[in-house]
Amino acid sequence: MAKIVSGNGADDLKSQLNIVDVIGRVVPLKRAGSNYKGVCPFHSEKTPSFVVSDQKQIFTCFGCGATGDVIEFTKRYYNLDFIEACEKLGKEYGIEVDFSKSSGNKEREEYYKINREAAAFFYKAFTEKANPGYTYMKKRGLEDSILKKFGIGYADKEWDSLYKHFKAKGVGEKILLELGLISQGKEGKYYDKFRNRVIFPIINTSGKVIGFGGRRIDDNDNPKYLNSPENMIFQKKNNLYALNTTKQDIGKEGCAIIVEGYMDVISLYQHGVKNVVASLGTALTDNQAKLIKRYTNTVNLCYDSDSAGINAALRGIDILTPRGLKVKVFHVTDGKDPDEFAKAHGRDAFMKLVKAAPGAIQYKLDSAKKGFDLSKDEEKLDYIKKAAAILRTLSPVETDIYVRALAEELKVSERAIFAEISAGGEAKTAAPAPERRDDTAADTELSSVEANVISALLTNPDLTEVLFDNFGMMENTFAKKIGNIILELFGTKGNYSISDINDRLDPDESLALEKAVSGILLAGREEEVLKESIRKWKLDKLFEREKSIVSRMDLADESGIDQDMMKTLTNDLIEVQKEIKKYGGR
Ligand code: UTP
Ligand code: MN
Repeated sequence: MAKIVSGNGADDLKSQLNIVDVIGRVVPLKRAGSNYKGVCPFHSEKTPSFVVSDQKQIFTCFGCGATGDVIEFTKRYYNLDFIEACEKLGKEYGIEVDFSKSSGNKEREEYYKINREAAAFFYKAFTEKANPGYTYMKKRGLEDSILKKFGIGYADKEWDSLYKHFKAKGVGEKILLELGLISQGKEGKYYDKFRNRVIFPIINTSGKVIGFGGRRIDDNDNPKYLNSPENMIFQKKNNLYALNTTKQDIGKEGCAIIVEGYMDVISLYQHGVKNVVASLGTALTDNQAKLIKRYTNTVNLCYDSDSAGINAALRGIDILTPRGLKVKVFHVTDGKDPDEFAKAHGRDAFMKLVKAAPGAIQYKLDSAKKGFDLSKDEEKLDYIKKAAAILRTLSPVETDIYVRALAEELKVSERAIFAEISAGGEAKTAAPAPERRDDTAADTELSSVEANVISALLTNPDLTEVLFDNFGMMENTFAKKIGNIILELFGTKGNYSISDINDRLDPDESLALEKAVSGILLAGREEEVLKESIRKWKLDKLFEREKSIVSRMDLADESGIDQDMMKTLTNDLIEVQKEIKKYGGR
């Protein structure tokens, strides 16, 4: 087969493939009008509602909503990431996919190479002779085979072992600094960043070493863990620790268990709980949700039992569910974290907790209930209000189920709870499809709605409740981060100022925040601005939905999709247009 060298990675690849051929090889397709139709490979169905458009070079399933281009199809069908999917297509169709020509890729390869070399250096130090790192990990009960599996290493006590190693090979300081392998002291001297630490290499799903975590061995004042800084090849928000090793187990078990720490992962793995990853010590992000979604539809959050762990779980739910992931949450009942629990009680006891874990809504309700004395009418009422705010976001069927249980538990009528649910907010619109977000957007970007909302809340923190109910307004990663900080501060101390928030941001983020809110004049109109922002945001979502329904109707029409589907789409359209009117949109 002739090899065609393509200059521009994915775009070139796409231009040389026909989606109908590619999908037609694995899904039997029949011509339907100007399109092709078949049985959807992504959900089980009897009558075909999976349409491939030759003209648009996309696939769409009217049953489950799956949609995308030829690369998206390959990603989903074979459980691959973007690069892997391109490589597979390239190989099968004899097209050489050359990513190195798109800008930055040569440099990336160089970074990966150096990290791999550093990982090998640490691994050698850990395995070739006695060293405090190995002793430490043995003391923590870890077996050699597990340490090997995760590529655990040791950074020795010297100031410059790694630096010297690279210097001898002619590697420059700039790249080592960038990767966070060395630091520069006041007098300009370079020294190793990781010293006398156990090293956990962080490896992405394509097998590239993208960063490191290093655990302190001695009891001293140094930070317990040091992590590689963010750089061109390492963004915490896009990765999950150990996913490279555990992705098959996650697929096999049909579930991913997400924990907080490196140690939790490898300890659980040793005890036979292998479908596990760690969120790298930060709050979960939308990109991590998308990453997980490639391997499973179900997530079990198992964070530490402290209040930070509970808050992280609550936020995690709101990040994961919009991506269509089913979430369950639990905390270990003995010991501080999963590592300690697994060590003390073993696999079966841990799996019992996994099985018994409540779903996301139940967990939210349980957390909301804490601190209320339900034998007192007044506190009962407060709890019902909080519960109503949680249930307001659900589909009618789900709402029904929880209202019934709640009414039973609290000995109040279902009708009263329903009334509370509709009293507190506008009627619910059908959940909008998860939005596509631009992964390459700047890390400190805020939309004008986001900037207005943040500015209004900074001026009047009493309005923070609004954010609880409309967190979806925060769409950029940076806005979500600030939103989470605000909610956390409000939850713990009841108010906050811009300097409280800046304390938790990187300097460049602080700067971006100050810049974004500095031009906004509210002059006592915070509440109005907030309301208007919510209205605009809801309208935007509705218009998006309207557009998507209309284009689905077009496609359905062209492909002769059955009349019931047309009816459903038409009804959806009428509903959406009613909502648009209600929000003053037309
Ligand atoms: P924990 O403090 O819960 O650590 O932090 P751990 O996983 O239980 O570790 P051991 O058992 O004491 O060794 C959870 C995660 O938060 C991040 C790390 O990713 C860690 O695994 N973290 C924690 C840091 O990045 N820096 C720190 O100083 C502490
Ligand atoms: Mn621990």
